[in-house]
Amino acid sequence: MSDIELAALKYAREFFRGDASGHDFYHTERVYKAALRLAENENADREIVALAALLHDVDDRKISPETAQAKKNAALFLESHGVDDKKAAQILEIIGDISFSGGKVPRSIEGKCVQDADRLDAIGAVGIARAFAYGGSRKRPLYDPENVSESTIGHFYDKLLLLKDMLNTESARIIAQERDSFMREFLGEFFDEWNGTK
Ligand code: ADP
Ligand code: NI
Repeated sequence: MSDIELAALKYAREFFRGDASGHDFYHTERVYKAALRLAENENADREIVALAALLHDVDDRKISPETAQAKKNAALFLESHGVDDKKAAQILEIIGDISFSGGKVPRSIEGKCVQDADRLDAIGAVGIARAFAYGGSRKRPLYDPENVSESTIGHFYDKLLLLKDMLNTESARIIAQERDSFMREFLGEFFDEWNGTK
């Protein structure tokens, strides 16, 4: 691991300390590790993938609304650690492209790997846990049959069940299959219990 990668890891660990909205440091750490795995399969540049993954949420609109537009936290980190302008621009472009709400497909293979890693962390068992944590942090009900889209269960239908078909890389699609089936199984069980049919 390069010095700058280590510095970014430490920076992210401090930055996300104490988050309870599903964006804690371990989310960033999982995205970083998964992105590196994908990068290896896709022959993507390790340093760009590592830094984009480690910094991908430091200017997220939900966590840091005041720096989101200019991606100030990531930009400052890269500048103060001597990353050259060209590489910094590539990393900042990836960070800007990957959010699911943005709906963009990153141009570079490095960006595709980081976006897939972030999406993989929103599905499966961890994805389920994160969705309810996020919903709770926004005071959303678990489920509301009269207003499904305002509940966390609604978020599965609006977003999480669609993610497996939105991935960029074949290696991520393979990982996503089992996680997606597990979420569907979870929803089946949830409704059985909710409806008292089980
Ligand atoms: P990104 O990683 O691009 O910032 P989001 O911020 O949209 O993605 O999502 C981060 C996490 O928060 C995901 O696990 C996602 O499922 C969860 N989340 C986002 N919006 C909602 C919502 N309305 N209800 C429940 N969970 C949500
Ligand atoms: Ni993320």
